[in-house]
Order: sequence, then structure tokens, then C-alpha cells
Amino acid sequence: MKIGIFGGSFDPVHLGHIMTARSVSKELGLDKLFMVVAANPPHKDNTGRLPGCMRYRMLDAAVKNEELIFPSDVELKREGKSYTVDTVTFYKNQYRGAEIFLIVGGDMLENFPLWREPKLILEKAKLAAVTRPDASRDMRAIADDIEKRFGGKVLLSEFTGPEISSTEIRNRMKDAIPVDTMVAKPTELYMYENALYMPPELIEIRNSLSARLRRKRLNHTMMTVCEAIKLAYHYGVDTRKARLAALLHDCVKLPNKELLDFCTNNHQEISDEEKANPYLIHARLGAIFASEEFGVKDEEVLQAIRYHTIGHVGMSMLDKIVYVADKIECTRDYEGVDDIRRMAYNDINRAMLLAMKHSADYTVASGKTINPYTESVMSYLENEIKNTTEV
Ligand SMILES: [Fe+2]
Ligand SMILES: [Fe+2]
Repeated sequence: MKIGIFGGSFDPVHLGHIMTARSVSKELGLDKLFMVVAANPPHKDNTGRLPGCMRYRMLDAAVKNEELIFPSDVELKREGKSYTVDTVTFYKNQYRGAEIFLIVGGDMLENFPLWREPKLILEKAKLAAVTRPDASRDMRAIADDIEKRFGGKVLLSEFTGPEISSTEIRNRMKDAIPVDTMVAKPTELYMYENALYMPPELIEIRNSLSARLRRKRLNHTMMTVCEAIKLAYHYGVDTRKARLAALLHDCVKLPNKELLDFCTNNHQEISDEEKANPYLIHARLGAIFASEEFGVKDEEVLQAIRYHTIGHVGMSMLDKIVYVADKIECTRDYEGVDDIRRMAYNDINRAMLLAMKHSADYTVASGKTINPYTESVMSYLENEIKNTTEV
């Protein structure tokens, strides 16, 4: 049996890691490859690192459908500082008689002599260093030197896949830039669900929403954030504003009775339309809360929250993005949603019109009449479509 060990902080795990794992498994003919989440690497500063359990969960989600690749928390469970030699020994004992391969990045090879017990590692495992074809250093010379000093075998494996870095992903999450081309889908969703790597003030808002909203609603909110950032980025709209508006768009999405009671208790007027459809209140009330409770003063953001259920004539791109993101985020599952999803990245006006028509059909089917204002917004969108097509 051939067993591979591929360690890393995986903060977060990205597609470069997964592709490396696949390519090296194939090249070495591995039967199993364990991606080991580092708990407390002795040579690295741990400040700001995400807890091991979260890094493990992202990895676990990312390799769920892989045949030969498995996540490993063996170093997380170990007491005290974690050393690679202990992990190699663990797998050597676990798979007696198996050939063990320790997979490391090319840049780590140079430091290998400084690791704890390099000789013992090489007695138990072959070292496989993954290098890039354009590496300026003579990797073979470094490998030969290690073999000469400690014995054992050092293999070099070339990796030509995409160059992705966890640092860049963390920065993108902080700056509201999409990461969907860099991480596996489940990893992306986990990061948004938990507001990972986001600025502290947004994490704070997310945490206070989690105390107020039901779990399903909170998840919908975070998935709307994910979609709104992608749409805003696609259309060149301020992604931070889209993120903030999406994060707060349902901040007072409470049961109908609570919304009505809230308005009554706070002397807020309720229109006939709102009396008939109390859920409409949460949008305008959401904008008030976003401003008063969460300190949002940006009128563009507040407007996007205010109009996310009914839209309005002359709405901004940001308003449309939040509206559409809310309707197509990945947990939404209704007939026709995929058509709107496809349209969203081609023509936001058409996507929004489709979503509005869908809601209108639903209103009619449930025996209610369509709000005349909704009709004005729909004809406004039709005009916008006509104007852009004619231009
Ligand atoms: Fe809403
Ligand atoms: Fe929503």
C-alpha cells in the first residue's frame, strides 16, 4: 500500500492544494492521501490563525467527493506542539508495511534540515517535494543534499496547476472580492456562512444577527452576501457596499405578528398594503434598524435595504444587485430560479424583471392582487431593458 501525507495550515484550503493532492496521488500511485491540518506548526507564528476545527471543517467539505483524498485531524488531536515526525510515525504505525510518502511544498524542502528529526522522518517515509516547473532554484541539488546528509529518498514532483495562495483568499474575503475561482464551493459557502476573514465590524454584525434571526434566515443572509459580492464585482459596483447591504437586508425579518406589533409599539405607520402583506415591513424597517442600531450612514446602502422587496422606479445598480442576490442565492430553490441565476450575470434588469414576475405570479396564485407600485417598477425595468437593447 502507498500512503501519502500532505500537511498544511489550510487557512483556508484552496483549489491549488486539492489539485496538488490529486496530481501527486496520481503520479506516485497512492492508495490514500491524508491532508493533515496543522495544529500549531513549530516554525510559524500562529497569531490570527483560524482555529484548527474550522480549518478542518473547510478541508473536510472540500474533499468530500474525492476518492483517494481524506482530511486528517491527527495533529489537532495531539497534545502539545505538533511535529511532522510524530505524524509520519502515526501513519507508519497505522499502515504497517505500507510505503509512506511525505508531500511537501518545494519551498519547504530548503528548511527540511531544520525540522525535528529529519533523519527519522526519512527512515519512515520518502519525501516528495512538489515544485513548479519555473522554479529558479536547483531543486534536485537541494534534494541530493538532503539525501546525502540524512539518507532516504527525496522525490521531486512537478505541479503545473494554478498558483493560489491562502493569504490572497483571506485578503479577498476581507476586501469583499469573490473567491469562487480559488476555493471549492463547499469551502466558499462555509467561509461566508461563518463570515470568516471578514473585517471585525462585519463579524460583529453577523454575530448580533445570529442572536436575532433563525438559523435558516441567517444562512440565507450570508449566502445573499456571497451572491451580492459576486454580482457587484461582475458589474463593477462597490462590493463593500453590496456586502453591507446584503448582510443587513433581512436584519428585522421577524414573523408577521412581531413586525406589526413592533410598528404599533413604536408608533410607526402601517399602510394598507403592509397590513395585507406584513412581511413588506421588514425592508423599510430594516433600513431604519441598519442606521439606528448598526450605525450605517451610507444612504446608498440603506436604500438597497429599503427597496429589496418591492424595488422602486429609478433604482440604482446596487439596489438591483441586492434585490437579485436575495432571490438567487444558492439556498433558494423554486421553479425558475436557475433561469434567473443564468440571467443575473448577463442582464441584471432582465434578471430582476424575471424575479418580480415570479413573485407576481405567486401573489396572483395565492389569490391576492398585485400592488400597483410593483407594476410601475416592472414597466420601469421593461423600459430600462428596451433602452439598453436599443443603444
Ligand atoms: Fe427580505
Ligand atoms: Fe432575504
